[in-house]
Amino acid sequence: MELRRSFIKDLLTSTEVDREVNVKGWVRTKRGNKNIAFVALNDGSTINNIQIVIDIANFDENVIKKITTGASISVNGTLTKSLGKGQAVEIQAAEIELYGTADPDTYPLQKKGHSMEFLREIAHLRFRTNTFGAVFRIRHAMAYAIHKYFNDRNFYYLHTPIITGSDAEGAGEMFRVSALDPVNPPKNEEGKVNFEEDFFGKETNLTVSGQLEAELGATALSNVYTFGPTFRAENSNTPRHLAEFWMIEPEMAFYDIHDNMDLAEDFLQYLVSYALENCAEDLEFLNKMFDKELIERLKFVVNNKFERITYSEAIDVLTQSGQKFEFPIEWGSDLQSEHERYLVEKHYKKPVMVTDYPMVIKAFYMKQNDDQKTVRALDVLFPRIGEIIGGSQREENYDKLKNRMNALNIPEEDMWWYLETRKFGTVPHSGFGLGFERLILFVTGMANIRDVIPFPRTPKNAEF
Ligand code: 4AD
Ligand code: MG
Repeated sequence: MELRRSFIKDLLTSTEVDREVNVKGWVRTKRGNKNIAFVALNDGSTINNIQIVIDIANFDENVIKKITTGASISVNGTLTKSLGKGQAVEIQAAEIELYGTADPDTYPLQKKGHSMEFLREIAHLRFRTNTFGAVFRIRHAMAYAIHKYFNDRNFYYLHTPIITGSDAEGAGEMFRVSALDPVNPPKNEEGKVNFEEDFFGKETNLTVSGQLEAELGATALSNVYTFGPTFRAENSNTPRHLAEFWMIEPEMAFYDIHDNMDLAEDFLQYLVSYALENCAEDLEFLNKMFDKELIERLKFVVNNKFERITYSEAIDVLTQSGQKFEFPIEWGSDLQSEHERYLVEKHYKKPVMVTDYPMVIKAFYMKQNDDQKTVRALDVLFPRIGEIIGGSQREENYDKLKNRMNALNIPEEDMWWYLETRKFGTVPHSGFGLGFERLILFVTGMANIRDVIPFPRTPKNAEF
């Protein structure tokens, strides 16, 4: 009878030895001598390899020769207590099937210790390294924990559109979606491209945020969240920006800015502690190899309350710091990454939540404060990352929202559906957006956002 395949993760923690098992995976290393070979096999279920012991006399020597780093095999054998150091159990091979060879002269992952830059050029193979195995297992665990967190708290997962006709952030940095002939598009009387003849009969783009649609859901279902890809055509070549990234956007009816802050803090602490509890081996590996303070930093975030300050207080701290910044700072200008990191890493030495930013630097939908100068914006700033969350209480007053849209020349005819939520049964409500890759950057301690998403989309880069 054919043996059912076991995952290496389960065998390594099994106390049931001296039984027949089957494993399948990719060879990480092979060592030994003429008589005996030791293969370290990995199947992605854990960062740890299982040792396969091969008594060469029992096998076709030509097959054993082809079992080199990167080759894929299936092994039937006996799971035994290991006599060697470094592992509790190993497999004494009885039968080996070679699925695919990996020519040692051309397989790029012969040795350990490749640079992250090199591995980005072979993104199709980098999953097979310890580092990327760890990163993508953690990424999965975080996605699962996000759904669990919300599911356990009466939030509904809402799928908002990827193709939209509105610009949620008013930033204008969007990727156009069009089915028109780019060489010879139809023109209108003014000689401009006639989008009325395009697929949707209007100009459409890839979404920069699902927030506006989430607000529609929240004003009936109370608590909703989105978790999907978002797109920004900003030419930012930094270790923290992607052109395609995933965002989690909870939106809550009857929440004010303080409720919003409480949720953001609890949510982030939950996710980090979930990683500490469920991804311990992968985190220990990353802590050892890349970032000796990683686990300490994660525990610190879980165990300490976040600082809560206003934008004006942040400006006071920064202007009185005596610190020289590349971008000078004064009331009214946006916080740059260097300012955010100064507040978090040097001044407060913990995550910081900043509220009440100047109206002119924030999006049209944020609730206006009585001072007519600031809005109820919320940014959450994290060590090493800077802004990890951006959100706000929303303007629920019809006239105030409409006036703000007029002042910013946002066409009412494009946004009538959004305005109607303020006309019919409007409620105070709030929400925020967590950048998924920024969360993964923080949790894994990786240095570049391109290394926490399988196939990064950045300016001039969409190879894989
Ligand atoms: O601050 P942002 O632009 O906020 C919004 O889009 C709101 N509509 C969210 C809401 O209130 N529902 O983006 C939210 C977060 C940022 O804090 C950051 O973590 C991440 O999304 N982010 C990016 N991550 C990677 N690459 C980029 N280019 C990003 N731009 C924003
Ligand atoms: Mg922001």
